[in-house]
Amino acid sequence: MLSRIVRPTLTAARNFSTSQQNNYKVTVCGAAGGIGQPLSLLLKLNPLVTELNCYDIAPFTPGVACDLSHIETASKVKGFAGQESLKDALNSADVVVIPAGVPRKPGMTRDDLFGSNASVVKTIFECASVACPDAIFCIITNPVNSCVPIACEVLKKANKLNPRRVFGVSTLDIVRANTFVGEMCGVNPKEVNVPVIGGHSGITIVPLFSRATPKVTIPADKLDALTKRVQEAGTEVVKAKAGHGSATLSMAYSGARFANNVMRALMGEPDVIECAYVMADVTDVDYFASPVKLGKCGIEQNCGVGDINEYETKLLCDALEQLKRDIQKGVDFANQDQ
Ligand code: NAD
Ligand code: LMR
Repeated sequence: MLSRIVRPTLTAARNFSTSQQNNYKVTVCGAAGGIGQPLSLLLKLNPLVTELNCYDIAPFTPGVACDLSHIETASKVKGFAGQESLKDALNSADVVVIPAGVPRKPGMTRDDLFGSNASVVKTIFECASVACPDAIFCIITNPVNSCVPIACEVLKKANKLNPRRVFGVSTLDIVRANTFVGEMCGVNPKEVNVPVIGGHSGITIVPLFSRATPKVTIPADKLDALTKRVQEAGTEVVKAKAGHGSATLSMAYSGARFANNVMRALMGEPDVIECAYVMADVTDVDYFASPVKLGKCGIEQNCGVGDINEYETKLLCDALEQLKRDIQKGVDFANQDQ
């Protein structure tokens, strides 16, 4: 099944003939930030996007939109600055991508961002439940493990939750695993596909090298280090940027790849499979990252954990314990005023 994972492409599949919708209105929340700007650039270059709304609390956001609007692609770009414009920015969006919120500094965990970012996500989803409840939501904001449950609880309260349409974007973990395996095994990383399951922080990130395609052999004495490198790759970037934020460019690429695959599936293209952190009943926890088949309504099928070896099973057990706590924290936050 995983051999059918669709390779990433930032352009629409050329040979795919369709009478379906192939023009999407996309809103980026946090569009003026380190991820938001290059992500918006990649979306401006995507022919499936015909309207691009750039929203941020930063007052210069209309300037970012103006800058993008001079690029010679057909899509229309609009800028929205300040919370009072959030509803207009989201209004009837097909896809909403959310990299709004504070990034880590050296020494912080992703969970340390909860205090700042939980309310950012809650506010965006309270508004989205009115402005674009049927959109596909792609949440990049950390801690993803807790932010996705917050989003779902807010939508649930508004009676607007469709769990097939709410995604935590864990694509960067897959992109990194592909890159590191490619480097280690001397394979073009574009040809490699490593599913990564669990969640998006530290030990909750569980790369499944045994399921890599093409099949690769990781030497036993290198497996721990390679696993740790994928789990700690975000921290590697945070340290290297030395107080100037976390991964932005690789995340913009990953977010654009994910959004593109969402739109290809919405268009009716078959067999679009991506790993993502979603509401699921494939393990003992209520939210879990695994390969999901995307379709016209969002998640068409959750492919679950699949076959994993003993080493990966141990990683998964540790991940589930941590995930349980992260999820509960998000659920409690969303319901604390009840
Ligand atoms: P950044 O500080 O460069 O940009 C964040 C932007 O969000 C800023 O422009 C800021 O004005 C805006 N913002 C803050 N509060 C807002 C609100 N209430 N409404 C709208 N916009 C708001 O940070 P960044 O590097 O772009 O990272 C953004 C988030 O993405 C962080 O939480 C980071 O941890 C996360 N991240 C996730 C992944 C992933 O794999 N899922 C990867 C990298 C970063
Ligand atoms: C990443 O994996 O790069 C992001 O989650 C950002 C971070 O804080 O590490």
